[in-house]
Amino acid sequence: METCMSSPSPASTLIQTITPDALAQAAAILRQGGLVAFPTETVYGLGADACNPQALKRLYAVKGRPKNHPVIVHIGSADQLSAWAKDIPEAAWTLAHAFWPGPLTLILQKKEHVPDAVTGGQDTVGLRVPSHPGALALLQKFQGGIAAPSANRFGKLSPTTATHVAEDLGHDVDLILDGGPCTVGVESTIVAFPDGEPRILRPGMIGAEQIQQVLGAKLTDTKKNIPAPRVSGSLSSHYAPRTPVHLLDREALLQEIQNHRLETVAVLARFPIPETLTGSRILAWQQAPENAEDYARTLYANLRQLDQYQAAGIYVETVPEDESWSAIQDRLRRASYRG
Ligand code: TXA
Ligand code: MG
Repeated sequence: METCMSSPSPASTLIQTITPDALAQAAAILRQGGLVAFPTETVYGLGADACNPQALKRLYAVKGRPKNHPVIVHIGSADQLSAWAKDIPEAAWTLAHAFWPGPLTLILQKKEHVPDAVTGGQDTVGLRVPSHPGALALLQKFQGGIAAPSANRFGKLSPTTATHVAEDLGHDVDLILDGGPCTVGVESTIVAFPDGEPRILRPGMIGAEQIQQVLGAKLTDTKKNIPAPRVSGSLSSHYAPRTPVHLLDREALLQEIQNHRLETVAVLARFPIPETLTGSRILAWQQAPENAEDYARTLYANLRQLDQYQAAGIYVETVPEDESWSAIQDRLRRASYRG
């Protein structure tokens, strides 16, 4: 006989909206060495207690990430910086005070107690104070550092909604806190200080110009890169949908379609589909926003959606060369890389 006490299906409890109860549950899971996916303003993170090597081991296993790739430790405020890092350059403090909470990660010399499992065995640690209220509330409740890479399997697109996380990781994660769609949409800007001077390791929506303005100094040319630390985001084939992505300027994109170069295509462009182009070879045409902020916010959701059509290729229109688009240029280059 059916009872009215039948337990809810796992699918309905895996994702929870952020309430005091859900936060208490999430913090308890982290303390027990479990995995909690949570929203940040950039992308969703797959969180584990940064001081628990066993929890980190599981985190790496679920992610499918090589052990020597470091993860970012999320902290509740800049005041906690010196609990994790030492020999902090003046410029790092300046950036922390200017941009935290926010989409900036600082790579600094680690304190001795920081586990190798977090740093991938390097002597540096990546630290960031996220600005999403749900992330800050979780950090407040947990009272410790939360190690969190983006909550996707290694090499796949980062999730920007709780549903993306559930689709990708399912019950490999113990709880997913749903804080709505991410407002920034691409991963944080990463700044390291290899020789005491700041350098951008990964472009994000906090751009070089903003950083220079705050520091009152020019950044060293990041193209001539330092002996690269192991930054998984710097593997060229990162952030890719399953469907091959082709990055083309507007003219080339239209030409390719007209020439029927591919059997079927899905398109991400900053203009509507021209009337002359309608045809069954175009399975989907997603018009992307005109400005960089909105484009970034919707980029991964758009690529995920276009990926579902199983077209022979996704054609993406190139974006402006302007500095404000540099994070987007970077992610599109990686998504379209075939090495
Ligand atoms: O916006 C973000 O940064 C998101 C959210 C969840 O905070 N996180 C994120 O994490 O993108 P993940 O693991 O997908 O990318 C973090 C990048 C990786 O490329 C990693 O190698 C690099 O940060 N990283 C972390 N610690 C590092 C260190 N000590 N030295 C060099 N790179 C480091
Ligand atoms: Mg990632």
